[in-house]
Amino acid sequence: TWSAVPAGPPDPILGVSEAFKADKDPRKINLGVGAYRDEQGKPYILPSVKMAEELVRASNPDKEYLPITGLPEFTKNAALLAYGAESNPIKQGSVAVTQSISGTGALRIGGAFLARHYPHSKAIYLPTPTWGNHIPLFQDSGLEVRSYKYFNKETVGLDFEGLKADLKAADEQSIVLLHACAHNPTGIDPTPEQWREISDIVKEKKLFPFFDMAYQGFASGSTTRDAFAVRHFVSEGHQIALAQSFAKNMGLYGERVGAFSLTTANPEEKARVDSQLKIVIRPMYSNPPIHGARIANAILSSIELYAQWETEVKGMADRIISMREKLYNTLQKDLSTPGEWGHIKSQIGMFSFTGLTPPQTKVLAEKAHVYMTSNGRISMAGLNSGNIEYFAQSVDAAVRG
Ligand code: LMR
Repeated sequence: TWSAVPAGPPDPILGVSEAFKADKDPRKINLGVGAYRDEQGKPYILPSVKMAEELVRASNPDKEYLPITGLPEFTKNAALLAYGAESNPIKQGSVAVTQSISGTGALRIGGAFLARHYPHSKAIYLPTPTWGNHIPLFQDSGLEVRSYKYFNKETVGLDFEGLKADLKAADEQSIVLLHACAHNPTGIDPTPEQWREISDIVKEKKLFPFFDMAYQGFASGSTTRDAFAVRHFVSEGHQIALAQSFAKNMGLYGERVGAFSLTTANPEEKARVDSQLKIVIRPMYSNPPIHGARIANAILSSIELYAQWETEVKGMADRIISMREKLYNTLQKDLSTPGEWGHIKSQIGMFSFTGLTPPQTKVLAEKAHVYMTSNGRISMAGLNSGNIEYFAQSVDAAVRG
C-alpha cells in the first residue's frame, strides 16, 4: 500500500535533536532546538512552575474535558499578559481567544481560520528568514506563502529598507506575519521607532498583521517590554491575530500551552468569531490538554507567583546574555577567529544567527559533535561555562577550515 511513499527528510530543527541523541561522544553539544538549559546543561523546571503544579495538585482537580477553546481563566489571563489591562479590546471585551497546542497550534488555528474567514486575501507574507516551520504550517493551512526581506547579510542586521520596500510592494489587504520579539532565527528585532514605521505601512497598505509571540519575556527579560509591538499595533487601531506560546517563557515545552487570539470590533462580533474558532478546532483535536493550562493559569492569576515567574524569566534571559558576552570575548578576543562576531552580543532572545555556513555546520557536527541547524542558528541556552570553550574552539577550527 505504501510502496510509493517516498522517505521524507528529517525535520530541519527537531531532526538535529535526533542526530544529537544518536551521537555517543561525551563532548557533544546540542544547540539545535530552542529549549532552555541551565548552567549544568540540564532542562530547567522553573521554581514558580513547580509551586504552581503543587497548587494544582493540592486542589485535587478532575480530568474532565476542557471546553473546545480551553480553560477560560487561562485564556483570559493569557490575553491580559499579551495585550495589557489598558488595551481597548481587553477593556471592551472584544478579544476572541482560544487555548492552543502551544505556539505551533496557535499559528495553525490562525492559519486555518484566516484561510476560511479572512475575506480579502489568501496571501501571507513571511520574513526571510523565518522559523522554518512557518512555511509548511501556513501552506498546510491553505494560505499562499510569500516573503518579505528581513535580514541583511552584509551588516548581519535588520534589512529595514528592504523590509519597508517589500511591505509597500505587497498586495493590499494581504496577511503579514510579524515576530513580536526575539525574532527566530536571527535574534534581530526592529526598534520601537521601526515598529512605528512598520505599523504605518501596514495601515497604509491595509495589511492584516498576524503576530507570532513565542518568546515574551525572553528578549528583554520583561514581559511588558517584549509586548511593545503587539500593544503598539493595537493602540494604533489595527485588528490583529496573535499566537502565544508558554513553552519558552514558562519552560512548559512538552505541556503544549499556548493561545490564539483575534481582536474584533465589538463583543457581538467576538461572539461570532468565537463560535467559528470552535468550528475550526473541534475537527482538529476536539479540545486542548488541561494540565499545562492549569499550571500557567496558577502563575498568571497569583500576584506572588507572577512576580516570582517574571524574575525567573529574567534569570534565564540574563544567563543567555552572559553566554553571549563570553562567546564573543572568546571568539573575537582570545582566539581572534576570522570574521566579526559583534552580532553575537547584539542579537537578542534565545538564538544567535552566527553566520556559519551549511558546510561549516556539517563539519562541526561530524568532527566536533556540535549540533546546530544548518542555517547557522545556535540556541544560546545550550551553552554553559562547562562547554563554551570547547564550542568556541570548534567554531574557530571550522571557520579556519
Ligand atoms: C525552535 O525554533 O527551535 C523552537 O521553536 C522549537 C521548534 O518547535 O522548532
